[in-house]
Amino acid sequence: MKTLVLYAHPRQQHSNVNAAMSKAAQSVDGVSFVDLYARYPRQNIDIDYEQKQLLEHDAVVFQFPLMWYSTPSLLKEWQDLVLEYSFAYGEGGDSLSGKLWINAVTVGAPESAYGSKSHNKYSLAEFLSPLKATANLCHMPYLAPYTLFSSLNLAGSETMKDHAYGYKTMLEALCADKFDIKASQKPDLLFAADIPALINEASS
Ligand SMILES: Cc1cc2nc3c(=O)[nH]c(=O)nc-3n(C[C@H](O)[C@H](O)[C@H](O)COP(=O)(O)O)c2cc1C
Repeated sequence: MKTLVLYAHPRQQHSNVNAAMSKAAQSVDGVSFVDLYARYPRQNIDIDYEQKQLLEHDAVVFQFPLMWYSTPSLLKEWQDLVLEYSFAYGEGGDSLSGKLWINAVTVGAPESAYGSKSHNKYSLAEFLSPLKATANLCHMPYLAPYTLFSSLNLAGSETMKDHAYGYKTMLEALCADKFDIKASQKPDLLFAADIPALINEASS
């Protein structure tokens, strides 16, 4: 499965965990890795180029830190411009049909800060529901987001290394058609510890 990682982080000079994840993703054979803020420092997204690139892949991974309960703004801009009517949805808009949509999101607050009884009032899956609805509209199967809570101040930590390793393992399995797509759609979120059980050694 040809896998495209679209990475969006506007403050990379301060990044620990996404920096480690990006390094891990770039080491996987078969992954096309794109740093959207490096490609479009002036936000002038090349729609035709982005659409062509989507057509050349079977799975799209959106890697980003949660910012104000949402994606960084360039990733929203990318959605607004690239996922056009008659390309991604609507009349004749089935170009992305069947391609996988996978979020890889890092979240500063702990898991306990999310959910109906928490001070944030909503779960992370609920905050990400516009992305799930967008995937649905584009006929793209939506996998449970690969998630890290408590993502702050993790430089050099085992947690960060485990998360980056889990990410690499997931991407390798996707590229080798060994990732259990059905099972990875069932939970609300996926964590590094869940990844080994989702790898199907029998298929390739
Ligand atoms: C502008 C901004 C907005 C943020 N918004 C949220 C948020 O809504 N919820 C949250 O849990 N963390 C939030 N964070 C924390 C980031 O998610 C966290 O810094 C990031 O996941 C850490 O990854 P990194 O080391 O790769 O930068 C925010 C951080 C910044 C800078």
